[in-house]
Amino acid sequence: MRVLSGIQPTGRFHWGNYFGAIRQYLQLQEGNEAYYFIANLHALTTVRDRQRLWQDTREAALDLLALGLDPDRATLFVQSDVPEVSELCWLLMTGAPLGLLERCHAYKEKKSRGVTADAGLFTYPVLMAADILAYDAQLVPVGVDQVQHIEVCRDLAGGFNHEYGEVFTIPQAKVLEDAAKVPGVDGEKMSKSYQNTIEIFEPAGALRKKVMRIVTDSRPMEAPKDPQTDHLYQLYSLFASEAERESMAARYRAGGFGYGEVKKALAAAAQDYFAEARQRREELAARPERVAEILGDGAQRARRKAAEVLGRAQRACGVKRPA
Ligand code: ADP
Ligand code: TRP
Repeated sequence: MRVLSGIQPTGRFHWGNYFGAIRQYLQLQEGNEAYYFIANLHALTTVRDRQRLWQDTREAALDLLALGLDPDRATLFVQSDVPEVSELCWLLMTGAPLGLLERCHAYKEKKSRGVTADAGLFTYPVLMAADILAYDAQLVPVGVDQVQHIEVCRDLAGGFNHEYGEVFTIPQAKVLEDAAKVPGVDGEKMSKSYQNTIEIFEPAGALRKKVMRIVTDSRPMEAPKDPQTDHLYQLYSLFASEAERESMAARYRAGGFGYGEVKKALAAAAQDYFAEARQRREELAARPERVAEILGDGAQRARRKAAEVLGRAQRACGVKRPA
C-alpha cells in the first residue's frame, strides 16, 4: 500500500501529535511504501516568521527521525523541495469549485476567529490534494479534523479523471484512532492553538514543571475517584505499562492519595518513555549534514514519483505534448 501523510512545522511536536499521529506513521512504515513530509508550504498560511519557519522545519525532521522514522523504509522530505506539487496544485485549482472550498470547516473556523483570509488559506485543501495525488497515494492517515480535506481531494481527483481520463489514484483516509485524543494541561484537547501542550522533547526540568501544573479537581484526598474520567490518569496511561496502569487505577478507586503523586509518576513515565528518542535526537542534532542528506535523498525520491504523475496530468489536460 502506498501511504502518505504530512505534518505542519508550526512549533515543536507535543504528546498529542505523537500519540494521535506520529506513532501511527511509524507503524505504517512497516510493510508499506510510505511518504511522509513536513508541510512547510501549508505552514506558510499561518507562520510569517522566516527564521521560525526554517528552524521549525529542521526541528520537525529531527523529531521525526529521533522518534523512529526510518529513512531506509519511508521517504521523508520537505514539501517545498518538490516543486512538482505546486505545479500540480495549479492544474487542480482550475477544476476546484469555490463552493466546495467554502464549505471546509478548517477555513470557516479560522475565518470566524478573525484570521484574515487570503487565497493561500482558502485554497489550502487544493494544495493538500496535490500533495496526495502527486504520489499516487492510496492511504492517508490523518486526524479527524483533516477528513474533510481528504474528501475534497477525492472530489478533485474524481472531477479531473472524469474530465480527462484516469489520471489520479483516488486515495482513502485512514482516521487515526479517536481514543488517542490526548488532553492538555488544562484537560481540554492538547493543541498548540490552546497553549496547553507538553512537548515530546521538553527538557526534564520544564517537563516536570508543566506536569505539576496540570489542572486537577479539588475533591478531597480521601474520596475514591473514577480513573476513566480523569485526564491525569488518561495521560499517565499513555506512558505506563499495563501493570502500572492497573495498579494506578486501583489506587484511584481506593482513594486516599494525592494528585501530586500521580503527577510525579507521570513525569517519570514520560521521561522514560522518550529517553531513547531523546538520546537519538541529541546524536542527530550534532550531525546536521546527515539530516540534510536524509531530506535531500527523500526529496529526490519524492520528485521522481511526483514528476511522473505531474507529466501524466499535464498530458491529459493538454499543457504538455501527448506521449
Ligand atoms: P495542533 O492542534 O497542536 O496545531 P496539528 O493540528 O498540527 O496540532 O496536528 C498534527 C497531527 O496531530 C494531526 O494528525 C492531529 O490530528 C494530531 N493531533 C494533534 N493534537 C492531538 C491530540 N490532542 N490528540 C490526538 N491527536 C492530536
Ligand atoms: N493539513 C494537514 C494538517 O494540518 C497537513 C497536511 C498537508 C497533510 N498536506 C497533507 C496531511 C497531505 C495529509 C496529506 O494536519
